[in-house]
Amino acid sequence: MKVLLIGSGGREHALAWKLSQSPLLDTLYAAPGNPGIAGCATLVTLDIDDHAAVSAFCRENGVTFVVVGPEAPLVAGIADRLRADGIAVFGPSKEAAQLEGSKGFTKDLCARYAIPTGAYRRFRDAAAAKAYVREQGAPIVIKADGLAAGKGVTVAMTLDEALAAVEDCFDGAFGAAGAEVVVEAFLDGEEASFFCLCDGKSALPLASAQDHKRVGDGDTGPNTGGMGAYSPAPVMTGAMVARTMKEIIEPTIRGMAADGHPFSGVLFAGLMITAKGPELIEYNVRFGDPECQVLMMRLDSDLLPLLHAAATGTLEQVSASWRDETALAVVLASKGYPGTYEKNTPIRSLPDDSGHLKVFHAGTAMKDGALVATGGRVLNVTATGETVEAAQRAAYAALDRVEWDNGFCRRDIGWRAIGR
Ligand code: AMP
Ligand code: GLY
Repeated sequence: MKVLLIGSGGREHALAWKLSQSPLLDTLYAAPGNPGIAGCATLVTLDIDDHAAVSAFCRENGVTFVVVGPEAPLVAGIADRLRADGIAVFGPSKEAAQLEGSKGFTKDLCARYAIPTGAYRRFRDAAAAKAYVREQGAPIVIKADGLAAGKGVTVAMTLDEALAAVEDCFDGAFGAAGAEVVVEAFLDGEEASFFCLCDGKSALPLASAQDHKRVGDGDTGPNTGGMGAYSPAPVMTGAMVARTMKEIIEPTIRGMAADGHPFSGVLFAGLMITAKGPELIEYNVRFGDPECQVLMMRLDSDLLPLLHAAATGTLEQVSASWRDETALAVVLASKGYPGTYEKNTPIRSLPDDSGHLKVFHAGTAMKDGALVATGGRVLNVTATGETVEAAQRAAYAALDRVEWDNGFCRRDIGWRAIGR
């Protein structure tokens, strides 16, 4: 099979690395890719926002399967165009991608199908939203409806903070994403990420993970795209996974199909494990980054037939097996991230990969034959071990061998699992 992978981050490097090991693969192309992905795929220059050009590339090169990494092209409808042209796609339609593209859409789905989530209201004007916030009191959560690069959510511990967040949204702090606002009850508990493959009709549970969203040790400082992750998440016991499938994932898949937009691809449920059980915080319609990196390190099965089964409605015919190990990824980011940071700083040396260690590239580029950092999140040093402690030790030992002056990382990835 000839496959095209869309994307250029650490998540896509992990997908490319795993796909490239498949005996079913003839050629793996990646657009736009990065220097890490170049080690396991052929990079192609393609404007991924030009869906007709992506489709033409597939036709001209015999590509029959496209794997879409990030959410933006899905929300823009790339899967619809490619499917209309007869190409199998891993990733949901534009309509189904609303599960990530619109928080209000997901909340309404939860309400219709009795999926446990925080009580909420949707607003299009500030005065009504503020009145509701005053009525509910703090703590309370204010969310821009649309895609805001992970920045549209304020967990307000005081009423003043909540009212300011409502104003910010309607004042355009998140552009069009904030034209509508969701005000949601604060959920108290431990967060976990849970991933399932879906083919429109059914769901195959993959694995759980925990992310570290804040930039600083001890979960302090501003939110980021994720500074590190490990899998599995100890809070997601077998019983909790079973409840999540029955109470959250399966009603979602049935509801999406009943509503006329069946969901296929990977469903990434952001969960809060509360005293009552699992509740949905949000859905994403793609793998998490860096959660994907730890999932791929633990996956024993061939990834290609799994993704292809999700894309072609044949998930009942496949199963996934996992290594009984913990995988842990530490993100090395450019100093200043998630604020402004210097670009094109040289990365002089990286540790060698081994069976238990992989350095995924997220924001790197080649400049004049040398590797440089171009992004906020730059490298994902990922290791496996028999315990979280062992995986953590291995990841940090390798990370300390990276020679890059402008990098920083959290030193406590895995603290919650180790503290248990
Ligand atoms: P999101 O961008 O929706 O993932 O939200 C960012 C973060 O805000 C989540 O990872 C949670 O830590 C937090 N959050 C979102 N919604 C709630 C909620 N209803 N209650 C408590 N925390 C929340
Ligand atoms: N690491 C969180 C995300 O990918 O949304």
